[in-house]
Amino acid sequence: MENHPELLRAIVLCLLSSFCIGKRRRSPYRHCLNAIRLFALVGTLLVLPGTISSAQSTQESTTRSGLNAVDPQLERRVETLLEKMTLEEKIGQLVQYSAGQPTGPGTGRSNYEDMIARGQIGSLFNVVDPRQINAYQHIAVEKSRLHIPILFGLDVIHGFRTEFPIPLGLASTWDPTIVERASRVAATEAAADGIRWTFSPMVDIARDARWGRMAEGAGEDPFLGSAMSAAYVRGYQGAHLDAADSIAACAKHFVGYGAAEGGRDYNTTEISEHTLREFYLPPFHAAVEAGTASLMSAFNSLNGIPSSANPFTLKQVLRREWGFKGLVVSDWNSIGELIPHGIATDGATAARKAFDAGVDMDMVSSSYHDHLQQLVSSGQITRSAIDEAVRRVLRVKFALGLFDHSFVDEASAPKALFHPESIALARTAAERSFVLLKNANGLLPLSKGTENVAVIGPLGDDSSYPNGAPPEAGPRSSFTAAIAELLGQEHVARYRGTGILDGTDEEIAAAVAGAQKSDIVVLTLGESPEMSGEAASRAHLGLPGRQQELLEAIVKTGKPVVLILFSGRPLTVPWAFDHVPAVMAAWLPGISGGPALARTLFGEVNPSGKLVVSWPRAVGQEPLYYNALATGRPPGEIDLTRPPADVESRYVSRYIDEPNSPQFPFGYGQSYTSFSYGPTTISNTRLSAAELNSGLKRPGHTVIVAEAEVRNTGARPGDEIVELYIRLRGTSTAQPIRMLKGFQTISMAAGESKRVKFELPADALAIWNDHNQLAAEPSQLTVWISPDSTRGTPAEAEIVK
Ligand code: NOJ
Repeated sequence: MENHPELLRAIVLCLLSSFCIGKRRRSPYRHCLNAIRLFALVGTLLVLPGTISSAQSTQESTTRSGLNAVDPQLERRVETLLEKMTLEEKIGQLVQYSAGQPTGPGTGRSNYEDMIARGQIGSLFNVVDPRQINAYQHIAVEKSRLHIPILFGLDVIHGFRTEFPIPLGLASTWDPTIVERASRVAATEAAADGIRWTFSPMVDIARDARWGRMAEGAGEDPFLGSAMSAAYVRGYQGAHLDAADSIAACAKHFVGYGAAEGGRDYNTTEISEHTLREFYLPPFHAAVEAGTASLMSAFNSLNGIPSSANPFTLKQVLRREWGFKGLVVSDWNSIGELIPHGIATDGATAARKAFDAGVDMDMVSSSYHDHLQQLVSSGQITRSAIDEAVRRVLRVKFALGLFDHSFVDEASAPKALFHPESIALARTAAERSFVLLKNANGLLPLSKGTENVAVIGPLGDDSSYPNGAPPEAGPRSSFTAAIAELLGQEHVARYRGTGILDGTDEEIAAAVAGAQKSDIVVLTLGESPEMSGEAASRAHLGLPGRQQELLEAIVKTGKPVVLILFSGRPLTVPWAFDHVPAVMAAWLPGISGGPALARTLFGEVNPSGKLVVSWPRAVGQEPLYYNALATGRPPGEIDLTRPPADVESRYVSRYIDEPNSPQFPFGYGQSYTSFSYGPTTISNTRLSAAELNSGLKRPGHTVIVAEAEVRNTGARPGDEIVELYIRLRGTSTAQPIRMLKGFQTISMAAGESKRVKFELPADALAIWNDHNQLAAEPSQLTVWISPDSTRGTPAEAEIVK
């Protein structure tokens, strides 16, 4: 951060230009996005040089256009090509197959070479060998009549070969900069391999830890989720899509997929338009505004209409309101799945419904290949509609420069992988992603002089590869090895104790004996990587297999225990929180997770991550999220740890056997130091709704300033994520008990104080009203600046007419 003036100028220019882009578009969501931009700007200007996240994230923000800006030359090339194409060739561009390791059931076909030569395939995915990619590309470019290159895609989710923490972990950094830089590395590695399209970011709001795909997103909050969404797109797409190291992003799964009933993957969703607009749509709109080249239509039915055949979301919101020009691809066979959904009884109807709704490209199902031609000849689909979909595909291919540089340099592809600086960034990302949940009596950090450390548990080596990493997984150092490197091999003993799902009495006994010989036990428990992600919903959220048994046996030895939880979601382990002095959520921390954890446990790094999902006490609390409505019967001050004893404590919205509150709330995370927050102050206590509404037309215009003094009260330097929440009462639609509207990370020396300031624009105070429009309304406003979503001193203001 030595070059502040240049940095600052770049930031201001970037942000101002992005305000202008927002202004040209007439979507109501631009207000939310402008709020996010404004906070980034304000955070940058106000707390430089102490701020980590805002400043760096904007410094890296080079993508301004993506597919947002019309490029007349590109459009001409698209039109010239389109004119030469037969209907069959056009339909070919709308067809995609998986040609490698399948990531869903069945692929339908395998004669891809022939199909490519006939111009019947626009995109392939899951091919990862650059030689294979070139082989297919040679067929497309040399044998097909019009030489249209194939677009190769892949789920590059948290790194290509240099594996970063899972997105839930990355989001726990609350640092869009890290996300942007990690996705830049992913893009560079993937593009060098010939993959120019990633099916990422997943920007689904996730409120239910049973849903395994919570691991792939940024958690439960739309404001944070939007900031992360835009950061991924900027990182993948870089300064220009046609740069050799840029890949097209694909925001998924549009939309509402995270609200699957019961947390069961692929299940039905029911989301009112109000809730959709307030919570589920903003991260997608942020991706669109950041210029994402594509979006993926989801599996789930939304209010009775499958998302891959939903004209309201795909046409009304996406195309008309947001003006999205990019490509919409279906999810894996989600067009074919319109039949089991029950809105089509044959493939032709499925194809027609998806196409009419606005899905441009068919992933895997073959419905477009099999039926579009006949649907056009029978007049059910117009040729001009086909042309429009084809334009969107070609636009992405031209924008990526695929026509000019179709092949990948096979020899240099491996050189892009595992750069030392990428591995170092993965370590920083992991260190910033850890959330310290409990640290009784300052047990952590551990002393490097500790004589005997026992590392016990199935995840003590490499949490991504509990059974051993294959050579292609890159240069990795196991957690136990990383501790041994810090302390010396002779000070570290390793016991598996149990497997993740299996285990024997003998192994547990050996681990207990090992614990007894140690000074301190580091327990490494949790889920295998296969237990989160797609098709990995869980009905039980405790420790799998015999791990709870192992935990209790080790704690019984009386040795001090540090518990590291590895998982793709919060785990319900209340016994551990009652009996273990120190607990850290490590998520699945990626290639450098071992060294990152060792450095954090032994105090080389002070943890600063905070939860982006509410951590449940019991699975029966799910779905659980902080930005909930109050209900008409909030329990108020009633002690929910006791069963109801009288009418007052019974007839409220509660469980009779569990508190409503989470084990740890959204936004929570401890540090090895401590921070105190002074009261929240606000610049004015009376605002006018009319002025706020005209302020909506002036994005960036500050309507209220909130401040609080934050002090590092401990003995170490530390980073603190400072959060700003609001609540509005008296509005036409019930508003959540709190809504995140700003965050900043500040670095503070021991004893240092900082006045943290947030400048709120009108957007922050506007709500989706009873006409589903974004507007400010007369109401009571409460503002908190706080360390998590439950604390902070409120400041009150009134919004009058
Ligand atoms: C299905 C998943 O839902 C989606 O996220 C992924 O991109 C595709 N399969 C392709 O692997």
